[in-house]
Amino acid sequence: MTTMLSVSCLSKVYQGGFVALKDINLDIRRGEIFALLGPNGAGKTTLISIICGLVNASAGKVTVDGHDIVDDYRAARSLIGLVPQELTTDAFETVFSAVSFSRGLFGKAPNPAYVEKVLRSLSLWEKRNNRIMTLSGGMKRRLLIAKALSHEPRMLFLDEPTAGVDVELRRDMWNLVRGLREDGVTILLTTHYIEEAEEMADRIGVIRKGEIILVERQGDADTQAGQEAIDGASAIAHRRGARGAGGLCAGARRGRPRADLHLRHRARGAGDCRTACAT
Ligand SMILES: Nc1ncnc2c1ncn2[C@@H]1O[C@H](COP(=O)(O)OP(=O)(O)O)[C@@H](O)[C@H]1O
Ligand SMILES: [Mg+2]
Repeated sequence: MTTMLSVSCLSKVYQGGFVALKDINLDIRRGEIFALLGPNGAGKTTLISIICGLVNASAGKVTVDGHDIVDDYRAARSLIGLVPQELTTDAFETVFSAVSFSRGLFGKAPNPAYVEKVLRSLSLWEKRNNRIMTLSGGMKRRLLIAKALSHEPRMLFLDEPTAGVDVELRRDMWNLVRGLREDGVTILLTTHYIEEAEEMADRIGVIRKGEIILVERQGDADTQAGQEAIDGASAIAHRRGARGAGGLCAGARRGRPRADLHLRHRARGAGDCRTACAT
């Protein structure tokens, strides 16, 4: 196994003293799809932003394929693509030139055939000569992905890629992620949706209040059963017990780390899990 991303002892204290990340340690291996699951405000975007060089860490170290993101930032960044949570695009540029320009920013030689392939894979080829302001919201999101892929990154960060998007785009996104995996691209995605994490990822990490409280490999779920009892454990634990109640409970769907509640439901036979977890 070779490590693609290594995060050690990473902390972030924002101006004003708010502690957004506490001593994060995480290794992601080459070619892996890792889902970071956690509620709003858990620190997911902060973590991704630090790795991608948009926010400075307060302490700790991050390397991408062995390149330190501070000392060797050019090499680290050239390996990374980021699809941000917020839509940020230039209104007047055309789709094709925006993607080509992004590629150029990373010092890559123009490659219209590659840009065409990316735009086709995201159903944007027909819109290549449109100005960005004429795109729908979903198309703008696709464009952000195209820009993130423009320089052929070896690691892609997707920050809540499917929050609020329609079914078609979600399906395309999943297909895209699978295709990238076949090309050996390492992927870290964040999500609120436990089903998405389970469907897509090789491993799932649960983050809450700036701390990674659980990392679990798909299929190994039960080996971790003992950890469920730890106060404030994971949404995964939540969901696991909810199976007995005939499906996911509302709390688990929203990624609520309420294993404490959940274990009580299970002790009672989990019959009322769905109602109780939603509270
Ligand atoms: N620039 C900032 N200054 C102060 N606090 C911030 C800043 N950015 C984010 N935070 C806080 O850090 C916490 C984590 O935010 P974020 O990383 O965006 O969480 P998530 O992406 O998991 O929803 C939140 O409480 C948020 O309000
Ligand atoms: Mg976020």
